[in-house]
Amino acid sequence: MIRMNENYLKLQASYLFSEIAKRVNAYQAENPDKKIIRLGIGDVTRALPVACITALHKAVDEMAVDATFRGYGPEQGYAFLREKIAEHDFRVRGAQISPEEIFISDGSKCDVGNFQELFAFDTRVAVPDPVYPVYVDTNVMAGRTAAWKDGRYEGLVYLESTEANEYVPALPKEKVDVIYLCFPNNPTGRTVTKAQLRPWVDYARENKALILYDAAYVAFIRDASLPQSIYEIDGAPDVAVEFRSFSKTAGFTGTRCAYTVIPKQCKIYDSQGNGHSLHALWDRRHSTKFNGVSYPIQRAAEAVYSPEGQQQIRELSDYYLANAALIRTTLGKAGFKCIGGDHAPYVWVKANMDSWKFFDLMLQNADVVCTPGAGFGKCGEGYIRFSAFNSRENVETALQRVSEALKGL
Ligand SMILES: Cc1ncc(COP(=O)(O)O)c(C=O)c1O
Repeated sequence: MIRMNENYLKLQASYLFSEIAKRVNAYQAENPDKKIIRLGIGDVTRALPVACITALHKAVDEMAVDATFRGYGPEQGYAFLREKIAEHDFRVRGAQISPEEIFISDGSKCDVGNFQELFAFDTRVAVPDPVYPVYVDTNVMAGRTAAWKDGRYEGLVYLESTEANEYVPALPKEKVDVIYLCFPNNPTGRTVTKAQLRPWVDYARENKALILYDAAYVAFIRDASLPQSIYEIDGAPDVAVEFRSFSKTAGFTGTRCAYTVIPKQCKIYDSQGNGHSLHALWDRRHSTKFNGVSYPIQRAAEAVYSPEGQQQIRELSDYYLANAALIRTTLGKAGFKCIGGDHAPYVWVKANMDSWKFFDLMLQNADVVCTPGAGFGKCGEGYIRFSAFNSRENVETALQRVSEALKGL
């Protein structure tokens, strides 16, 4: 008899986005003429930068000729891309990351989700609340939690991000072994300063813990004093892994390319307390279970680092940031407290009512879809996430309708 991994039974059935889709579909079926605008799911809407498309076409043509055709590439990624990343994303900011410490992949979702395979079963895991659900669900699947109770999984340590701590959680009071952090944050849009990040690195060093730092939204940071990488903090390469993605930086959500950085000095420990190279462990895992990102896609990603590519990705993120500013200003004028949106594509709005009630109100009175904060964790209850990923025209129309709907409150 084939038996299932019963940890899957602990997962919450109504995953946030399927519940949203259910409500939106039901509303659309009842109101077929309504033009619903989606400011919910965090998928980009604008085309790939011209520099990437040009590189992609060229690489596809190379694949059509025996002399330039490429078969299996290195599982860790081509050197041409790893070198550009090390130079442009890290060394120019004083973070000494070498190309060999970078693993190219087809997405941060997979990397973040797969990484916990390297950890012992009884690893104590700390996750932010509210949180990008992948950090939690993959640890549930692996059996690192007990049951779901009162809106949380028993066995996880939740790091609360609330109005009281300005949405930057405090260090855990108990000892934990792994800590997920995400800045700029999904869903709150909150960024972190170097001074706020340093205690996390110190904590990890003191406790031989590991930080998994998700910087998927780094391209939206506009304040040069804010850290773009955790490796800008002294000592971080000993205790932190960083996840980056081309998805939001360059519109690669459908194209798929990302990377994970594991400094060679970063250690993980066996039950006797002996240190082992985390880099070597991930290299073993990655090359056993993954066969590399396709050559044309890696060439397209490389083009992000050309002068034209850099200018074009800047224009992309500027466009979405202008949308975010409109969302924030409009909701602020309507009397709602908002954070995020200045260095992130998400605006986190205090709804002054139940999250799902606000969601239904927006859907039914404004034909606008947003994301109920409660879906990201207990601390998200009473909040709503608005995403800036849409056309300016749609954002403006949506905001006019939202303003009208809110007048009636
Ligand atoms: C915080 C965070 N990390 C990772 C991802 C996934 O990135 P990718 O498209 O590279 O899988 C997302 C996507 O929304 C995200 O919000």
